[in-house]
Amino acid sequence: MPHAPLVVIGNANVDLTTYLQRAPEVGETVLGHNFSIGMGGKGANQAVAAARAGAHVSFIGRIGEDAFGDMVINALTGEGLELEHLGRVPGPSGVASIYVEDGGANRIAVFTGASGTLTSDSAAKAVESHDGLKILVSQLEIDLHAVEAALATARAKGAQTILNTAPALPVSEGILRNTTWLIANEVEIAAVLAGAGVATPQEVSVDQVTAGIEEWAKALECHVIVTLGDQGAIGHVPGDGTFHFVAEPVTAQDTVGAGDCFVGYFAAHLIEGIPWRNALAGGVLAASDSVTRAGAQSSYPQRSRSEQFRNRALDSV
Ligand code: RIB
Repeated sequence: MPHAPLVVIGNANVDLTTYLQRAPEVGETVLGHNFSIGMGGKGANQAVAAARAGAHVSFIGRIGEDAFGDMVINALTGEGLELEHLGRVPGPSGVASIYVEDGGANRIAVFTGASGTLTSDSAAKAVESHDGLKILVSQLEIDLHAVEAALATARAKGAQTILNTAPALPVSEGILRNTTWLIANEVEIAAVLAGAGVATPQEVSVDQVTAGIEEWAKALECHVIVTLGDQGAIGHVPGDGTFHFVAEPVTAQDTVGAGDCFVGYFAAHLIEGIPWRNALAGGVLAASDSVTRAGAQSSYPQRSRSEQFRNRALDSV
């Protein structure tokens, strides 16, 4: 039986990344100047970030019976994750085709493959089996019924839940009802609010987040954090106020997976009992550090730096 108090459910991908001056237009072929094969997938990224931040993490997901599946198992085992509920199924593993342009802008196309086969029944059973569960983390890159079942099971066990609404999709009432912390970027929060019938522009600015977040948390009935790239993140907890944290400026090389780094660090800090404002600052600091290196998991601060990042988070508020 898995014992980890922090459980991440989600997808695991192999990221095939081409670095190029600019991404091709429709019908056009352009030449890249670099290429890498790295470990990704929003779920696996968040689990790895949390483990490197010092948390004991269990990962629930599905991979295929192919070479990419072997790569995922090797990488996640090396990170010290509990993998009792990482099942293997026939067919291809999840894969992401990524373009990163000079200057850091990226485009990502995901084929969920095996990750998309996790059912709501399996998700609920896997979450239920975690006796010491304190926090469950999910995103939206797997079957949404499985997401809802996992969140509901975790809440029924008395755990907190963190939902990262990535990629940008409206979410069901059942998902929202079982979410303690909702974490979204500026595009994703607009999709969630539109789906919940709250009028917003397609993409919200820092000023609009500052002005609107209290109202949004009230309408969505959860704690809300909006991540804003180099503008940091803004959080609101009903009854406890709003907090905005921005890290020192850095030169971004590759922002792929930076949002996942934020979520993993935030969850790991919360589970240690670190106050949410500090946990938010810790997520921003780690994500900001990650964009100075290439790739998703390959860019996250190593476990040997977890104490340094924890201390910076604690000193930041
Ligand atoms: O959030 C970044 C991740 O999105 C990449 O690692 C890619 O695999 C996709 O899931």
